[in-house]
Amino acid sequence: MLDLLITNATLPDGRTGMSVAVQAGRITEVTPGLTAAAGDTFDAAGYLLSPPFCDPHFHMDSTLSYGRPRVNESGTLLEGIQLWGELKPTLKIDDLIERALTYCDWAVAKGLLAIRSHVDTSDPGLLPVEALLEVKRRVAPYLDLQLVAFPQDGALRTKGGVDNLKRALDLGVDIVGGIPHFDRTMSEGAASVKLLCEIAAERGKFVDMHCDESDDPLSRHIETLAFETQRLSLQGRVTGSHCTSMHSMDNYHASKLLPLIAESGVSIVANPLVNITLQGRHDTYPKRRGMTRVPELMAAGVTVAFGHDCVMDPWYGMGSGDMLEVAHMGLHVAQMTSRQGMRACFDAVTTSAAKVMHLQRYGIEPGCDASFVLLQARDVVEAIRLRATRLKVWNKGKLLAESGPAIARLQLAGRPSQTEWRRV
Ligand code: FE2
Repeated sequence: MLDLLITNATLPDGRTGMSVAVQAGRITEVTPGLTAAAGDTFDAAGYLLSPPFCDPHFHMDSTLSYGRPRVNESGTLLEGIQLWGELKPTLKIDDLIERALTYCDWAVAKGLLAIRSHVDTSDPGLLPVEALLEVKRRVAPYLDLQLVAFPQDGALRTKGGVDNLKRALDLGVDIVGGIPHFDRTMSEGAASVKLLCEIAAERGKFVDMHCDESDDPLSRHIETLAFETQRLSLQGRVTGSHCTSMHSMDNYHASKLLPLIAESGVSIVANPLVNITLQGRHDTYPKRRGMTRVPELMAAGVTVAFGHDCVMDPWYGMGSGDMLEVAHMGLHVAQMTSRQGMRACFDAVTTSAAKVMHLQRYGIEPGCDASFVLLQARDVVEAIRLRATRLKVWNKGKLLAESGPAIARLQLAGRPSQTEWRRV
């Protein structure tokens, strides 16, 4: 007997009337109209059953700290870093853990079951590392939390920055991070990219580096990251995050750079909500959007995913762990309005993000984990348009969260009695 049978589901690829059979936490069959005995049978009523959302770029040590000790008045990345620097000496481990766990509750309720979080390794005490390793252990039964050792104040700019990062790796942090554009000079930034990639190569780790998060078209650390990836045979193991300077680069340089990134197998994570918020702050008008060249990178064959980056922290006061909100903003900022473009935005917070994160057994096919989210939408485009309600969220066959459908009751003479904001 099956543990769970979901019937009459629509899948992200457009197949309708699909049944998904689950046994021992894995999907055993995906086929139309299956009937079989199951401990639990659920009729999806034609709604969209998607693999869970994945966030390939987040900061869980700073999340939900908005307003402490003050808000970011200029709205810039640099004031955010300064503000975080003011907050850091006051951090307590219990508070770090509780904020992160609360955010994980929000994430699960939004069908977000895999998060790659950077964790600040700048201070020798490594308190955020200790806290997030504990959070990782606690949420492991229901959420896949990957941690990146992130030298927020600059790997080479900070005294002992590289040693602190190495100690974080020793403690169990999974991935090597970086922030070359915050080192003191272009050459120091390039040196930090080289050094950090060498550390990853020596230790057999992945790399996920904040790279060129600025409007400066001459910030070209992504070039060094792509070069070092090839030199050290790290193809497929390296991610460049943000890469917003690419937005402002000369088109000729971009035409050389994009194939170089594709050739190196470096994946790119854009963070639409935060990029549109933090970038362009030194502009008058026109104000640049600041997000990297998403459709062009995709067309060049680069794996591109979208991250949330921040929720209610020194850099961004909004957010709720909703990756459909991220996809919605990405679609607008990148003007990805073709049907194919809109579907690519959904992939950017599901399958492409899972690829960046090297998730195993991800998807709705036999052998994959029985982890999925049922959305109050009939297809992926509608899911983005409505930032669809997560009706149900399962992890490995276990129901984790439920929400009531979003329906408005209407009292309009001669009109329907309710609406779900869908065309009839
Ligand atoms: Fe970030």
